[in-house]
This record gives sequence, C-alpha cells and structure tokens, in this order.
Amino acid sequence: MFKVIIKDTYDEVSKEAFKVMKAVLDEKKDAVLGLATGSTPIGLYQEMIKDHKENGTSYKDVITFNLDEYVGIPQDHRESYYTFMHKELFDYIDCPEDHIHVPYGAGEDPEADAAAYEAEIKKYQVDIQLLGIGSDGHIAFNEPGTPFDSETHVAQLAQSTIDDNCRFFDNDPSQVPTKAVTQGIATIMRAKKILLVATGANKADAVYGMLKAEKSTDCTASALQDHEDVVVILDKAAAAKVN
Ligand code: GLP
Repeated sequence: MFKVIIKDTYDEVSKEAFKVMKAVLDEKKDAVLGLATGSTPIGLYQEMIKDHKENGTSYKDVITFNLDEYVGIPQDHRESYYTFMHKELFDYIDCPEDHIHVPYGAGEDPEADAAAYEAEIKKYQVDIQLLGIGSDGHIAFNEPGTPFDSETHVAQLAQSTIDDNCRFFDNDPSQVPTKAVTQGIATIMRAKKILLVATGANKADAVYGMLKAEKSTDCTASALQDHEDVVVILDKAAAAKVN
C-alpha cells in the first residue's frame, strides 16, 4: 500500500524522508537499514548526519545493506557505490565498518559474490529500505524486464541508465560500467517498510508507472504495488503525472 507525500522542494522531500527514517531508528536502535545511492538520497543523508551530530542519534548497533554496486571498477574508485556511501554518509556517523554491507562488484566472479550477498541479507529482515527510482522505472539496478522473483544478481544496465549516469563519469558513456551486482525485486520486497524518494521532471513517467500503471516488469518499481507499507515522497515535478 502506497502513502504518497508531495512536497514543494528537494529540501522538504529530504526532511520528510528523514522523519520516516528517524521514526524507525527511534523504535529500534539495532535497526537494519537498506540504503541507496543516486543523487536523490543525498539530502536525507545530510539530515541523518546533522541529527547524529546535534542529537547524538547513534548507529553503532545499526546494520546496513546497500542495494547495488557497479561491476568492473575497483571498490576504491571515486564513483563506486562503496565510495559514495562512505563519502555521503558512513564517514560521518558511528556505524561500525563491519556492520556495513555493500555488494562487491570488483571480484573475479560477480555471480558468486551476488549469491553470497543474497545469502547474507537473508539472515536479516530489513526494517526500512530506502529507494530512489531510475528514469526508466528501475529500483536498484532492476532494469525493465527483470522478473519480480529475482534475488541479488548481476544485471546489465539499460542504455538509458548508462546515459543518465554518465554525468558522474566525465560525461563519457564509455566510462560507465555496463553491469552491476544488484539486489533483486524479491530481495527488496522482503523489507518491512519501503521509503522511496523521487524528485525532478525526468522521474514523472517512472513515478506514474510505479503508482498508476498496471503492474508490469516494464517498470520494475510497479512491483511495489504489492508491498504492504511503502511511503513515497515526491516533489511537484516528479508528481506531475499522478496528481
Ligand atoms: C542508479 C541507482 C538507483 C537510483 C537511480 C536514480 O541507477 N542504481 O538505485 O535510484 O540511479 O538516481 P538519481 O537519484 O541520481 O536520479
């Protein structure tokens, strides 16, 4: 079931998302957080860092699982999702490094690493899974056509995703990795609660596909129509086609 909240600005979206995240942390100090990359969650991470600094909210008993990681770039690459998460969040909170899980995409056998990640995340239940959405409706790196029963796997990135993400790779699509290790749709759906944030006009079609179109792997975010507890926080531009 979706609860949709529409805000005027990116800043307000981030603050509203923080309230949802904080409620989970307040209830359970050893919460299992599912975290996401992309530019959209950065404002929420800044709110979490500020709150940690000012109010002392602690992450020392928290466990985290990230959604995805590029295949074929080293973990310490400036654009790896491992680096992103440290730079945008983990370096500023007190979550122990051994509580942090980010899929490993730099190994010899990414399929085996994907299977190992799925086995690890299965030992837990994610209390809240944060998601962004791709302009083609993907969640994590589950591109159109990915089956809803998929678990963590190696995915081929859609050309539109490569084009979207080339802004982080010197605007050069040939530098963008073409594959990723990603949690599957079924992995994501096991989370107790989902928090999805989307802003900007280039997300309006994807948001429509998730909320209003018939459930279909053409827009993998539409799988969330079957989840019991999804909070969707949008700005007006991303909500333009669902209002
Ligand atoms: C990437 C990530 C997704 C993310 C999407 C949108 O493809 N794998 O998890 O939701 O980008 O990113 P942004 O928030 O930068 O638009």
